[in-house]
Amino acid sequence: MSDQALFQDVVRKRRSVRKFEAGRTIGRDALQRIVDCGRWAPSGANVQCWDFIVIDDAEVRDRVMAVFLKQAQRLVDHAKGFPAVKKTYLSNTGAIVLVLGDPRWKACFPHATTKEWDAEYRANNEAIFLCSLGAAIQNIQLGVAAEGLTSAWLSGGGEDETNRELAELLGYPPWMKAYGTIPIGYPAVDQNRRYRRPLSQSLHWNAYEPRQYRRHAQIDFYESTLRPFAMYREEESMNAWPDRDEMLGEWTEAFVGPLSNPDGVLEPEANFSSPRVIGQATKRRKT
Ligand SMILES: Cc1cc2nc3c(=O)[nH]c(=O)nc-3n(C[C@H](O)[C@H](O)[C@H](O)COP(=O)(O)O)c2cc1C
Repeated sequence: MSDQALFQDVVRKRRSVRKFEAGRTIGRDALQRIVDCGRWAPSGANVQCWDFIVIDDAEVRDRVMAVFLKQAQRLVDHAKGFPAVKKTYLSNTGAIVLVLGDPRWKACFPHATTKEWDAEYRANNEAIFLCSLGAAIQNIQLGVAAEGLTSAWLSGGGEDETNRELAELLGYPPWMKAYGTIPIGYPAVDQNRRYRRPLSQSLHWNAYEPRQYRRHAQIDFYESTLRPFAMYREEESMNAWPDRDEMLGEWTEAFVGPLSNPDGVLEPEANFSSPRVIGQATKRRKT
């Protein structure tokens, strides 16, 4: 296989898997290669604003799992409409990698020299920090896929309460944060496909194509109705859903056709913090 084909293959094999074969271990050589992929990620000003904690001790892993079981329950109790997955599957992982963000490095990113520009650079400073960590997490997941293993990307360690508990358990300073938690193992299910929007809808040549714009109502519809299915069904295209027409209704063309907004009219920014459309996924919300 050419380098290009090999890389495409690894990119597509990087799936979020939440079911692992029990009792399998992963050698430290492989774990070091995986974490080294994170070390080679790009970062703003090359500050490398991360540390990686690899947990390959079963007892420590189970204590980390206990923290995430509480985290998932808090999400169910206090967060709106997010699909919380039961995290008992963590007990079947061979290792868990925590990617810690060290906020001191933000000093090296742009800072405003006057109050007037403070908001501008504060927001961008944070974006550079988080994007750098995302790149490291992504590289690690790709490294996992290249080893023939599988992983997930858990963001719960970025919640203050969860991070406090993880910091206490693992001994890192609580002002650092576990933005990414990556359970690694051998997949117990064949999870090689996931829904992706057609490339023709996301790829814009030379300028933003307004006919590929997604209307506010389309995103509302996805959130309120489609998300639980789009997240976990095995198909890349909604066209393969046997109940496609029933599920998508009048939105079919917008989700599977080449143009989601044929008249090309854009809308002003809107508030998405409360749903305008109540559907299957949102009706269970406690408001
Ligand atoms: C920033 C970020 C946060 C995520 N947080 C979680 C999480 O907390 N729990 C989880 O099970 N998956 C999480 N995921 C994984 C996504 O659900 C997953 O990437 C998406 O459903 C697409 O599936 P795929 O990774 O198999 O392509 C996260 C992904 C990203 C990029």
